[in-house]
Amino acid sequence: MPTVAVINGSLRRDSIHRKLVESLAKLAGDRLTFHFVEIGDLPLYNDDLWPEPPTSVLRMKREVELADAVLFASPEYNRSFSPALKNAIDWGTRPYGKNSWRAKPATVVSASPGAIGGAAGQQSLRALLTVVDTVLMGQPEIYFSYKAEAFDEAGNVVDEKVKAFFETFLDRFATWIERTKEPVVDAQP
Ligand code: FNR
Repeated sequence: MPTVAVINGSLRRDSIHRKLVESLAKLAGDRLTFHFVEIGDLPLYNDDLWPEPPTSVLRMKREVELADAVLFASPEYNRSFSPALKNAIDWGTRPYGKNSWRAKPATVVSASPGAIGGAAGQQSLRALLTVVDTVLMGQPEIYFSYKAEAFDEAGNVVDEKVKAFFETFLDRFATWIERTKEPVVDAQP
């Protein structure tokens, strides 16, 4: 079964993104295995740390590299994505030539208590994920207008419409991971 490294750009305990990705993990069943990657313990990016790299950085890079794909949960902060996500993504691109994101099938999900579900923040993250060389799934997109009543106490999705949409999303992501398995070919000779 393909493994998916899940990176949540929200560090807060009651994160609605955590609830969203945990519900996706439960729904995924035998399609995908989700592995939650901690990014709250990464120091702020600093090139000077590479001679003795922080354990948290090496762990995150290893967990991403071992996974077949990456799912980013992206809260919207002031019409952009969170600094925790940018920091993790920057660490992943270094040292030069050892970009952990390279050729990884990737997708993004966002939630917001407001009406537009974090769409602006997700769009700016999508631009960055292309630059760091992930193979980003275009559709479907999740901009989830968060409502607590869509979940039961155990975190399962109980709203039938939401559940059906999440099922489609998971099917499509599993297919995307399969489709993008071709070996990486360098563009430059
Ligand atoms: C926000 N929030 C927010 N929401 C939104 O729809 N558009 C925005 O531009 C912002 N800006 C913003 C800035 C900062 C600094 C914070 C802390 C929050 C609200 C945010 O989307 C909301 O708190 C979500 O619940 C965050 O996701 P988690 O932490 O619950 O997963």
